[in-house]
Amino acid sequence: MIESRGERSGPFRAGDRVQLTGPKGRLHTITLEPGKLFHSHKGAIAHDDLIGLPDGSVVTNQAGVEYLALRPLLSDFVMSMPRGAAIVYPKDAAQILAQADIFPGATVVEAGVGSGALSLWLLRAIGPTGRLQSFERRDEFADVARGNVATFHGADPENWSITLGDLAEALPRQAAAASVDRVVLDMLAPWECLDAVSTALKPGGVLLCYIATVTQLSRVAEAIRATGWYTEPQANETMVRGWHVQGLAVRPDHRMIAHTGFLITARRLAPGTELPELKRRPSKTEFSDEDVEAWTPGALGERQVSDKALRKRARAADAAAASSRATEPGGAEPDAGAADRSESAGEAG
Ligand SMILES: C[S@@+](CC[C@H](N)C(=O)[O-])C[C@H]1O[C@@H](n2cnc3c(N)ncnc32)[C@H](O)[C@@H]1O
Repeated sequence: MIESRGERSGPFRAGDRVQLTGPKGRLHTITLEPGKLFHSHKGAIAHDDLIGLPDGSVVTNQAGVEYLALRPLLSDFVMSMPRGAAIVYPKDAAQILAQADIFPGATVVEAGVGSGALSLWLLRAIGPTGRLQSFERRDEFADVARGNVATFHGADPENWSITLGDLAEALPRQAAAASVDRVVLDMLAPWECLDAVSTALKPGGVLLCYIATVTQLSRVAEAIRATGWYTEPQANETMVRGWHVQGLAVRPDHRMIAHTGFLITARRLAPGTELPELKRRPSKTEFSDEDVEAWTPGALGERQVSDKALRKRARAADAAAASSRATEPGGAEPDAGAADRSESAGEAG
């Protein structure tokens, strides 16, 4: 597996993705193709004017408007790619990589795959010698994720698989007992998957759950403790506050993303081990039907995406991936229609 697109440097080449920043900070992402034009309401830029320029150059469109051209970072890409489910934001992805101790060469299980944002960070961290096994129970989400990952890499990574189905049922079929180094769960009810995950994890392996609400945090913490198979769970959240730094006007930004989710981690004990300070098993915490109702997608305020809208996004992700593969050096001839769709799909507001 190579991260052919993401790690490129040097002058812009045909097939590169380039992020253009217009005069009002509006972002447009294009994939460079000789002879093609990028159109906006402010005029057109010939892709040929960009090919050969160093990364970080300014180009002028046919109406004299200037655009800054840079290869997008992975964080730029995930924030502008088509979404099915809500993504893990870069601030949380960075903490997930650190707190779950994702390392080059690791075997990692991830569920659900959603839009593939976290998959991209995990693939980068495990490198070509690692293996990422992702699980997703909705095939439309899996399609969006596949398209996004292929667009970023210019190909389907060989060390990545998506298995369709519920993790609790599918994982035992896909992973041998004690074969997985790290498990990262981003789903509504991670406690339902603890048996399967605990069997797959190696002793000393890390389980990390990313959850959105305190009710989920409480339930998964108690469920992890109740197994008796893990170290004491550690929970936290990450708040990143941007700063305005200009001359003497140095202050926090007025707006910030205040809440995304909580992280909770615990390490798998060796079979038969009891934590020294926990000779007594914690009593099983009971939950009423009303508590459980509080964890349904509707009650949690999760935005429900219609199947029709999802199919449209999956087609956009697929078209972007086709264009990305086609423009990869040595790839198939580009499909002009697909390339057009890819440009509008890659545009960020
Ligand atoms: C919030 S999204 C994941 C987003 C993803 N981490 C990203 O960064 O793009 C949650 C996903 O988990 C999936 N899911 C929920 N429970 C699951 C389960 N038990 N097994 C497999 N997938 C599950 C949902 O279908 C949904 O796509």
